[in-house]
Amino acid sequence: MGAKTGLGTGSVDYQALREREAGLQRMLMVWIVTGLAFMLLPGTFLGVWNLIAIAGEHTAARVDPAWIQAHGHAQIFGWIGTFILGIGFYSLTKMGRIPEFAIARAWVSWALWTLGVALRWATNLWLWQWRWLLPASAVLELCGLLVFLMTVGGHRTGAGRTQQGAVGGQVWMIAVGAGSAGFLASLAANLILTFQAALTGAGPAVSHGVNQRLLVLFTWAFPVVIIWGFSARWLPVFLGLANQRPRALEAALAVNVAGVGAAMAGWWLAAGAAFLAASGLAAVSLRVLGPSVRPPKIIGVHPAFPLFVRIAYVWLLIAAAISVSAALWDRSGGLWGASRHALTVGFMSTMVFAIGQRVLPAFCGMRILYSPRWMGASLWLLAVGCFLRVASEIGAYESYAPFLWPLLPVSAVIEMIAVTVFAGNLLLTLSRTPAHLAGTGSAGWRLTAA
Ligand code: HEM
Repeated sequence: MGAKTGLGTGSVDYQALREREAGLQRMLMVWIVTGLAFMLLPGTFLGVWNLIAIAGEHTAARVDPAWIQAHGHAQIFGWIGTFILGIGFYSLTKMGRIPEFAIARAWVSWALWTLGVALRWATNLWLWQWRWLLPASAVLELCGLLVFLMTVGGHRTGAGRTQQGAVGGQVWMIAVGAGSAGFLASLAANLILTFQAALTGAGPAVSHGVNQRLLVLFTWAFPVVIIWGFSARWLPVFLGLANQRPRALEAALAVNVAGVGAAMAGWWLAAGAAFLAASGLAAVSLRVLGPSVRPPKIIGVHPAFPLFVRIAYVWLLIAAAISVSAALWDRSGGLWGASRHALTVGFMSTMVFAIGQRVLPAFCGMRILYSPRWMGASLWLLAVGCFLRVASEIGAYESYAPFLWPLLPVSAVIEMIAVTVFAGNLLLTLSRTPAHLAGTGSAGWRLTAA
């Protein structure tokens, strides 16, 4: 029997609350481990394999597009999407005081989602029964997301106030809502295109022109926007930033929607220009590139954490700027590929490495990050690997500097080591006893001085 305390009009069952919190943490840990698994093998190792093949052939044209799309899908949905769903279930369920069945729904969503993403990857690689397994994977993914949206959709924005009052507290919810709509649009488009491929295609790969548009949904319409939302929620406190400009973030969202619309119409220059303007507005609104006005919260993480968040936003601007140049000058996919990886590795992955290692240990049962030094190493390696990748992809693919071809596999291996160190650090963190149960004096529980 749980201890009950009468408070005001209702009563609080503390035992039930503790069990619910433990259930939420278990659920989140499973989502996180699943995301890491997708990131490592289906995502990164296949990406490295593809890049080594491309560097060997000196062209991306001879590598099977189904394999390239399997890599991209595993990274965007298998890793980033899985993390977003897990964190979304955890934090929105807590904030919204949603009933007990939310945890059961989270498990249903996880099962549908994981099966869908795994099926998509395997189908693209091995082609077994692909004509019906490909659309089946898209249905499963969409159902996984719908269960999430139906579960968390009812909670109230007022619960998410930041230190900056109602407007600052709501704009992050607007961004997360817009990113969730982008997530839904991405999976709906994916469903339609996989059905089309199954009915009329020669293989599971989506055709190049259509895939270019789909990738805009998969990046600019969904994870980028959700990361802006989480940035508005957490960065003012974590980085000690000056007060946000919520109107500028709303403008960034509106311009970004216009950019996505332009890309869907095939107006690539207008789309690139809109993404550049939207990224600039987002950085201005968050004041992330300005100085901290309060000490950043770096206890327990690597002291360069605030620097890497700023580097991520510089990558966002670079990615958008390269997309403008791609619309003007791309001949062999090098500028588009470089823009995409500046966005996915430089911006998204750096943000997930930085913010993930900052918040996930606490969310998963008040644990302490296994190694702040590993966190620093993962971020430095990612930055170096991404820089080499973006520079050499432009130079080699576009034939401006063919001597850069041998650097591409080097960049891939550096990025692979970075993601492995990141995954190892999180897995070791999750496998340790929570700090409050272990006692802070025990070996291994070191807090890095602020
Ligand atoms: C070790 C790191 C990585 C390597 C070696 C790698 C390699 C590749 C390669 C070779 C391609 C083919 C197109 C091109 O040549 O640019 C590609 C495409 C792509 N990658 Fe990566 N990648 C890495 C990390 C990531 C990450 C972390 C993400 C997302 C979070 C990502 C998302 C994508 C996407 C969306 C595509 C486009 C797929 C498509 O054409 O449908 N990659 N990657």
